[in-house]
Amino acid sequence: MGSKELEDAVRCEVKDITKDKIGQKVVFNGWIYKTQQLATKTFFVVYSGGHFAKCLSSQSESLDITKYTSVEVTGEVKANFTKKDSFPCEIHAEKISVYGKKAPSLGIDIENTSESHLLDNAHILIREPERAAVLAARAQLLRVVRNYYHGKEYVEITPPTLVQTQVEGGSTLFPLDYFGEKAFLTQSSQLYLETVVPLFNRAYCIASSYRAEKSNTRRHLSEYTHVEAEIAWTDFEGLLSEIEDITVAIVEGFNSTCVPILKQYGVRADEALVPKKPFKRVTHREAIDFLRKECVKQEDGSEFTYSDDIPDASERYLCDKIGQGQPIFLIRFPAEMKSFYMERYGDGLTNSCDLLYPGVGEVVGGSMRIQSAEELLEGFRREGIESGPYKFYTDQYVFGPSPHGGYGLGFERILMALMPVLVPKVRFACLYPRFNGRCTP
Ligand code: 4AD
Repeated sequence: MGSKELEDAVRCEVKDITKDKIGQKVVFNGWIYKTQQLATKTFFVVYSGGHFAKCLSSQSESLDITKYTSVEVTGEVKANFTKKDSFPCEIHAEKISVYGKKAPSLGIDIENTSESHLLDNAHILIREPERAAVLAARAQLLRVVRNYYHGKEYVEITPPTLVQTQVEGGSTLFPLDYFGEKAFLTQSSQLYLETVVPLFNRAYCIASSYRAEKSNTRRHLSEYTHVEAEIAWTDFEGLLSEIEDITVAIVEGFNSTCVPILKQYGVRADEALVPKKPFKRVTHREAIDFLRKECVKQEDGSEFTYSDDIPDASERYLCDKIGQGQPIFLIRFPAEMKSFYMERYGDGLTNSCDLLYPGVGEVVGGSMRIQSAEELLEGFRREGIESGPYKFYTDQYVFGPSPHGGYGLGFERILMALMPVLVPKVRFACLYPRFNGRCTP
């Protein structure tokens, strides 16, 4: 191509370089994904916006471009006759300009590097298709969640995350100095969502929640994306049905819109099993009986009792054995094991639920909310909470109470359930994860 022809090249994006462009001259920008020297030719792949273009250069000297370098490529689009790859066409590059400087070698062998070293370099490694695909699927799944809520006329709220109250117990609070006053990073936006149900009946938010979790497990983060919803004029069955609906909508939306995105990145893209309503309901008491019958023991080797929380591994066991590949609800936890705001049921139990998902365990926690000021104050007393800062919350009993309930869904846990190979731990569902021992990059 002469310089006049190069000038005539059509500017486009990598995504636009399809078979329709065969025979045309194009100019486009992107980043080098890989290069390969074969005899006198250099093959290289340029990526941009989640799309990849195969290029080749027949310049006599070998091309001096490296992975991650920004380039502008000008060349002619031709048919790709090789059966060794699935690119619909290839660009015979005439001119390759480096934007900025050639990228240095990162010097990381991804397969044989510690997780910590990989996370230190996450700002570069997110460009790898496996990581980029997860972030793109994550963005799409957020859209699925929002579409679901909008379809059901929930109103989206953006509550503050700097707070002076606790929701889920003092042991996982992140304290901070707020202009000389004690404050916290929020554990949950639930209390604020409850204050808006008299306006909207149904409200939701997608916000960061923070937990000072000491344990470094596959499913714990210290900052996570919390999808929370609150519904007025409902009862416990109505609440469980809402949780079933959003779960089914998420899985269906994942299959129809996220799987194609994963495929576009050329990574593992399996459809997830769409769960069937109604999900099995197992009371906490029944779950403990089942674990005892199956001789499943606590981590310290002791037998489970009715006042025990069920740890991660036993949750997964219950899910596998009782759910057989389907999610199940654990319901009606003892009041002393749960937070101050949960509606009572019978003798010492609560109208509460955890949704357990195969491979992960708890992905959703929810409950009906206490409907009497006296019971709430009793809950505060039990947990040693001073009620003063909660006036915004307790005022609901004075100014038009309603039977209502809600739930919180751990977004990274759902991503882990849906993409177990790409997201074997919740930390791989995040751009830059935060967990005990990591607050960077
Ligand atoms: O069960 P949790 O603690 O419930 C609440 O926070 C309620 N106030 C929510 C509500 O009713 N509005 O947390 C809800 C969900 C869990 O089921 C789990 O999926 C996720 O949040 N979660 C975490 N995800 C990642 N890392 C952590 N440390 C998490 N803690 C909870």
